[in-house]
Amino acid sequence: MSLVPMKQILDEAERGGYGVGAFNVNNMEQIQGIVRAARETNSPVIIQASKGALRYTNLIYLKKLMEAAVEENPNLKIALHLDHGNELDVIRTAIDLGFTSVMLDGSLEPDGKTPRSFDSNVDITRRAVEMAHPHGVTVEGELGTLGGIEEHVQASRVILTDPEEAAIFVERTGVDALAVAIGTSHGAYKFKDTPTLAIDLVEKIHALVPDVRIVMHGSSSVPAELIDAINRYGGQMPNARGVPVEAIQEGIRHGVRKINVDTDTRLAATATIRRIFHDSPTVFDPRDYLGPVRDAITAVVKERMIAFGSAGHNDDYMPTTLDAMKQVYAARR
Ligand code: G3H
Ligand code: 13P
Ligand code: ZN
Repeated sequence: MSLVPMKQILDEAERGGYGVGAFNVNNMEQIQGIVRAARETNSPVIIQASKGALRYTNLIYLKKLMEAAVEENPNLKIALHLDHGNELDVIRTAIDLGFTSVMLDGSLEPDGKTPRSFDSNVDITRRAVEMAHPHGVTVEGELGTLGGIEEHVQASRVILTDPEEAAIFVERTGVDALAVAIGTSHGAYKFKDTPTLAIDLVEKIHALVPDVRIVMHGSSSVPAELIDAINRYGGQMPNARGVPVEAIQEGIRHGVRKINVDTDTRLAATATIRRIFHDSPTVFDPRDYLGPVRDAITAVVKERMIAFGSAGHNDDYMPTTLDAMKQVYAARR
């Protein structure tokens, strides 16, 4: 598979001052929808799979679908990234599968509930770096806890990333990218009232660790028109609210380079299927609703590629390889 290392995509984004969307996938229509958006906007793209996605696709289907995407689009800069890996075993699995980037999310213990100590997070993340870099594979770490899927742990104190701690974390672990907690959360219910993000933290972290690429998780915007469509056609998603695109753009201006989006493509899929089932109750061929789902995913991803500024940048640079990255990392040791 000629996937590019994620570090290259993010370093180029840093040079160009834009952000790159990292979109989660679990199936063929998602992969096709996202890759088509990249093709039509001439954008580099990060495709990411969670541990759950690896399980869902029985590993091999994801690998083969990604091979197909690369074969079909040999000129696109595509990185394949493991999202929220929380154990070294899954990092190993992703490297063996040919991922060009991995995330070691050491913010929580493997039980997914107990916050890890700073030292324990440093230790497991450093071990992930030691495992990945000899293969040329990029590593993303996480410091701080997001709201959303992590906030049930400590509902009263979502811990935002401390810039000084971030600098120490980067220096001790050697990560290429760092996910920061600035007030976003996963899922469709991110804010009760007005969305507020701690963009000042991004600015400080960017100044303190300029060589590390800042990642914003929980970046879906939860478009009102998709929520309205879902609710109109029988869904129940009251009070869903996301991060306004303008807030993400402000983050990009201050140094965010990787923007994680999953919920928005899920919403696009659900709104489409609900509408079709409501309007056309006789439909039973999955292609008649999964094809439109794919189109809806393309539409939302294209909008994000344009808004984040990555559109038009695919051909700015020649692709590098994991082998070349091996040399880069070896020279550092
Ligand atoms: O941040 C988590 C992503 O949205 C992936 O979700 O674990 O349900 O695949 P998942
Ligand atoms: P959303 O739930 O906002 O799409 O965030 C996805 C994410 O952060 C994946 O790691
Ligand atoms: Zn995330």
